[in-house]
Amino acid sequence: MINGESFLKRPLRWAQIGGGRGSQVGYIHRSAALRDSNFQLVAGAFDIDADRGRDFGGRLGVSRDRCYADLGTLLTAEAARTDGVEAVSITTPNHTHFAMALAALEAGLHVVCEKPLCFTTQEAERLVELARAKNRILGVTYGYSGYQMIQEARALVAQGKLGDVRIVTMQFAHGFHSAPVERANASTQWRVTPQFAGPTYVLGDLATHPLFLAETIVPGLKMRRLLCSRQSFVPSRAPLEDNAFVLMDYEGGAVGSLWVSAVNAGSMHGQKIRVTGSLASVEWWDEQPNQLRFEVQGEPARVLERAMDYLDEAALAEDRIGGGHPEGLFEAWSNLYARFARAMDAANRGDFDFLKTFWYPNGEAGAFGVRWVEKCAESADHGAVWVDL
Ligand SMILES: NC(=O)c1ccc[n+]([C@@H]2O[C@H](COP(=O)([O-])OP(=O)(O)OC[C@H]3O[C@@H](n4cnc5c(N)ncnc54)[C@H](O)[C@@H]3O)[C@@H](O)[C@H]2O)c1
Repeated sequence: MINGESFLKRPLRWAQIGGGRGSQVGYIHRSAALRDSNFQLVAGAFDIDADRGRDFGGRLGVSRDRCYADLGTLLTAEAARTDGVEAVSITTPNHTHFAMALAALEAGLHVVCEKPLCFTTQEAERLVELARAKNRILGVTYGYSGYQMIQEARALVAQGKLGDVRIVTMQFAHGFHSAPVERANASTQWRVTPQFAGPTYVLGDLATHPLFLAETIVPGLKMRRLLCSRQSFVPSRAPLEDNAFVLMDYEGGAVGSLWVSAVNAGSMHGQKIRVTGSLASVEWWDEQPNQLRFEVQGEPARVLERAMDYLDEAALAEDRIGGGHPEGLFEAWSNLYARFARAMDAANRGDFDFLKTFWYPNGEAGAFGVRWVEKCAESADHGAVWVDL
């Protein structure tokens, strides 16, 4: 059980880039990173508007002289201090991620970066190589992988309870953008503008989440090829899609499908994953994260509940609130940041044996997401053809 106590000798000095007042994801990062006292927020460049960022940082308790106008200024000023930052989270819009992650790694910082890590495989490989060369941690916030019942699904697969994995069905299909709401919302506008969002909208913004859940639950699955069809039901979003279907073939004969949408009218979130093996299936829905369906062929379906003794120890280890209470996004993200902290601490101590087996959404996972998105766009733009990964 996690009680909020730090497991480091002292908290890591941490900065946030972006995530200013009113941003979608900024508070989730802070809430997750600061919850267990493993990180201390000491600096930031919180907003594209420097004055607004300084005012906001001050209200977060950051000293005003460490609320910088931009990442470049932060890196220079913090490098000159004996108590400069050691880790940074990049929580700005997509088009900034590559240059920012590169600069922060070059400066010798551990980096947590929002998804998508960057826009091209070439960029992603450069970041992964740089992190390796500098012995720094590069983490990506695939936040849903921090839910305890995802750990339980992973454990059931590892224990062979599903038999041979045959089918992975993924979905992230909400309805919030069924109309062109971006006209009145800056946070949605950049998501449908290629210059800021990258080569895709919902494929990069949403689909990479259940894609990473699949990697988490069935780590051995290696994708061989995919076929993608994408649509822009709100025409002004073209060439970026607001809906897509992807079929996938894995090595060894398993197959997968993914439906991603922002125009699934009436749906709140609609993120689900079902993994089907030769003996049984598991299914998880992010709107009811405390429950995992475990369905064994020929037996009554079971609904496994979070925090119960019958779960695997990996699923119980990250419990924060006990049974019965609903675990939420903040708890899941806190688990993720606790993992990032453990990885950063191990890297600082040079414990590379630990890092070889320790699981967290790392740069390689981020790079796979980037490659998958690239290949989806390639497939769709050639008329929904199969492309090799
Ligand atoms: N992992 C998840 O579940 C999840 C959820 C939401 C968003 N995201 C990702 O988080 C990132 C941010 O998304 P958002 O919805 O919070 O965006 P947003 O538009 O709501 O907020 C962006 C924030 O970054 C600031 N900013 C922009 N450019 C900056 C710069 N150059 N320097 C400093 N600050 C800058 C803005 O002022 C704003 O405060 C995106 O990459 C998005 O894909 C991830």
